[in-house]
Amino acid sequence: MTARLIDGNALARSIRDEITSRVQGLRASGVQPALAVILVGDDPASQVYVRHKVADCESVGMRSILERQPTSLSEAALLARIHALNTDPGVHGILVQLPLPAHIDAGKVIAALSPAKDVDGFHVQSAGALMLGQPGFRPCTPYGCMRMLQSVGVDPRGRHAVVVGRSNIVGKPMAMMLLQAHATVTVCHSATADLGAFTRTADILVAAVGRRNTITAAMVKPGAAVIDVGMNRDDAGKLCGDVDFAGVREVAGWITPVPGGVGPMTRAMLLANTLDAAQAAQARSAG
Ligand code: GUN
Repeated sequence: MTARLIDGNALARSIRDEITSRVQGLRASGVQPALAVILVGDDPASQVYVRHKVADCESVGMRSILERQPTSLSEAALLARIHALNTDPGVHGILVQLPLPAHIDAGKVIAALSPAKDVDGFHVQSAGALMLGQPGFRPCTPYGCMRMLQSVGVDPRGRHAVVVGRSNIVGKPMAMMLLQAHATVTVCHSATADLGAFTRTADILVAAVGRRNTITAAMVKPGAAVIDVGMNRDDAGKLCGDVDFAGVREVAGWITPVPGGVGPMTRAMLLANTLDAAQAAQARSAG
């Protein structure tokens, strides 16, 4: 059996098209959704990510405000910038690109964001809302993974979902979203003994580890939906995920490619969150 591909590029494109028309509607009523992106320092990967986020905003008619700050920026100065953006009514979403330089406490910075503008979904209030099943911003990567499953009709209800990785950005919120969608959820991580014993029972398998070839064909249940969140380089320098794609695609029922899978969906969900933030702000000001 060869797995069918879940095409993240195509799905992201259709989501961006829908967002574009909703943005047009908001702009017609006098509100242009706006995302502020703060980049501290000159990490090359972060520069690429940020450039993409700014271009994405422009492609759907949103405004982006890119603030580039030097590595030497003090924590106090960054917090002051966040406070200013929190109270700026023309800014609907704020994203502080991670990682931050070592002298800045990322936890403190995220805590300073207004939860109403926390389009990354990283604030403790957003995390708490997800945990309790309340409305709030969902972290973009797991949110995008859920949309990918939905797009191909894989309903988590009653299924065994195994999440490999327990980060605050992907693994933990992914587990919560799958639980909310009525899956039975197992979270595996670096201290899990016999990872394969768990993954082989997964109907839905999400790999979010950051190490290539973590999931091989022998670790996958025939017909499973395999979502690859990894973003690694192989020996030839080519982008690859956490899953041995060539092997696993012969066993799985559905699989996401890298590149062209989760990555574009993460970017699309950031736009979706920013649009939601702008609509909520408009509703608050009208009410
Ligand atoms: N660095 C890598 N991924 C992300 C992300 O999704 N959001 C932010 N803010 N920084 C990141």
